[in-house]
Amino acid sequence: MPEPVEKILKKKTLQKDEIITLLKLRPPDNSILLTKALDVKTKTIGRKVYFRGLIEFSNRCSKNCYYCGIRSHNTRYRRYQLTDQEVIKAAQYAYTNHFASLIIQSGENSSQKFISTIERLLREISQMTNRALHITLSLGEQTEESYQRWYEAGAHRYLLRIETSNPGLYKKLHPANKMHDYTQRLEALKTLRKVGYQVGTGVMIGLPFQTIEDLADDLLFFREIDIDMIGMGPYIEHEETPLFQYRNQLLSLQERFEISLNMVAVLRIMMRNINIAATTAMQTIDPHGHERALLAGANVMMPNLTPIKYKQSYLLYNDKPGLADDAEESKELMGESIRLAGDTIGYGEWGHSKHYAIRTGARR
Ligand code: 5AD
Ligand code: SF4
Repeated sequence: MPEPVEKILKKKTLQKDEIITLLKLRPPDNSILLTKALDVKTKTIGRKVYFRGLIEFSNRCSKNCYYCGIRSHNTRYRRYQLTDQEVIKAAQYAYTNHFASLIIQSGENSSQKFISTIERLLREISQMTNRALHITLSLGEQTEESYQRWYEAGAHRYLLRIETSNPGLYKKLHPANKMHDYTQRLEALKTLRKVGYQVGTGVMIGLPFQTIEDLADDLLFFREIDIDMIGMGPYIEHEETPLFQYRNQLLSLQERFEISLNMVAVLRIMMRNINIAATTAMQTIDPHGHERALLAGANVMMPNLTPIKYKQSYLLYNDKPGLADDAEESKELMGESIRLAGDTIGYGEWGHSKHYAIRTGARR
């Protein structure tokens, strides 16, 4: 007989079997878990949600991950890269709307031209905003030298999802070559920390071949590496990817959503003061996905600032919402989710992960 949930939720440190019991809860039995997570959020970090303006800089990618719609072997999408002016305009929008933070995300590209373009843009944005805009990068695996150059040019946070903490599963989701190597990805996370970044990672939930034990291990992995920020969400199939062939073996979208919600809630309880994002993939499955993620413990949202004309070319998975929304609409919709959840927007604050702030003595 598994332990009663009430008893598990009173424990200081959760063990794997207890995490599994919590992840297996389904509505209405999971309400006790969600309530506890919201209570932890309220007491530890408060009910403020931080905006990070998201720029999907380019869909050119040298990699070929089996789950992702913009993998290099997919010829359907026109490949683009934003112009400098478009990036500056989006950064200006984030700045004047008091977002205080920006994320530049892109397919993986390690050419010297790309590295220096990003470096130049970082310097321009830092100068234009008098360093008031905190910049996060999500540009995949790069050399230590590139991470260092970008750090010195003004980026101080980096997101690199581990995708799954199970090396065997990682292998099934990626081509077998040096570019898609689990150990290297782990190394990249360590290098980022060494360079000085506030580091975020994350996983996909409901992948083919993934078990509930794997997901419990993912949460334990986040605790083990003492991560500052997490972005995780349901895996959603894309018809032009190799993993699409396993679509009949997947959990239903609804189940993937419920487990994702439980993952957010359990993580909030395990790592009380980190930043956790309410991700787009959650909103893709449920029209109240963002709001429900906030109520399960998330505290970060990413309004999309990518110019509309590029949005339909940055489809990592099916049915991604908001393709016709401009920055203003994206911001309004997210603001509405925040209001519905009973949270407030942390305008003008960098919204450091409190975890990171305590670890390093960072302010604001
Ligand atoms: N479903 C959900 N998330 C996906 N990602 C890529 N493809 C998919 C998919 N099919 C996520 C990965 C990647 C991030 C940029 O998008 O976790 O790190
Ligand atoms: Fe490229 Fe990232 Fe998609 Fe992999 S998940 S194919 S690295 S954009």
